[in-house]
Amino acid sequence: MTEHLQIAIDGPAGAGKSTVARKLADKLGYLYIDTGAMYRASTWLALKHGLSLHDGPGIAALARRTEILLAAADETSDGKIRVYVDGEEITRDIRTQKMSEQVIPVAALKEVREVLVEKQKELARQGNAVLDGRDIGTVVLPKAGLKIFLTASAEVRAGRRLKELNAQGENPDFEELLAQIKDRDHKDRTREVSPLTMADDAIEVSTDNLSIDQVVDKLLVLAEGAKRSAV
Ligand code: DC
Repeated sequence: MTEHLQIAIDGPAGAGKSTVARKLADKLGYLYIDTGAMYRASTWLALKHGLSLHDGPGIAALARRTEILLAAADETSDGKIRVYVDGEEITRDIRTQKMSEQVIPVAALKEVREVLVEKQKELARQGNAVLDGRDIGTVVLPKAGLKIFLTASAEVRAGRRLKELNAQGENPDFEELLAQIKDRDHKDRTREVSPLTMADDAIEVSTDNLSIDQVVDKLLVLAEGAKRSAV
């Protein structure tokens, strides 16, 4: 039987996880699952249906009965994967600064996490896959063949986020972004359900002084090693 290789990439917001994970999956020919997009899609659903962003059972029920489809990036999606809920495209709606704030309470809801973790496990069972998020190596795929914890300083992450938002026509203040990143880190690390922590067997990779391609190359080497030990 051929073993599937599952690669878990966790880390704080803005460390470059989703770009790195998507490129790594492309190069390896693996499925890429952006789990943050699923939390964003659930938040979008809650807002659409007028639910409170603290309504765990309500949002979980909505997420359970909705098809959340992650499709490959194309020229319309700025390199991000495209996201559909029951056929409606929400790729851009879920990437605004506002949504990055609104998703925080939703990602802290136990009932929502249970539904999404189940969906993520099911997707990962389909074959070789790269998943990125906050709890992949610890909760979603504790037996992943390769676990990476991607980090970068808060200043570097705020600078990257500023560039990204500028490209989308938004003009936030750097200091404000830095404060938001630090606040988000704190909330991600201290929330009661699935706080952001590094799995004991994860490899920490700092992206501070590396380009995206240099990080991807580094992970490709690690993936080759993991593939060899999987067969
Ligand atoms: O990676 P992102 O910024 O798109 O994630 C959106 C939000 O969802 C963010 O607040 C962290 C949270 N998240 C999570 O709690 N667990 C995951 N596996 C992925 C994202």
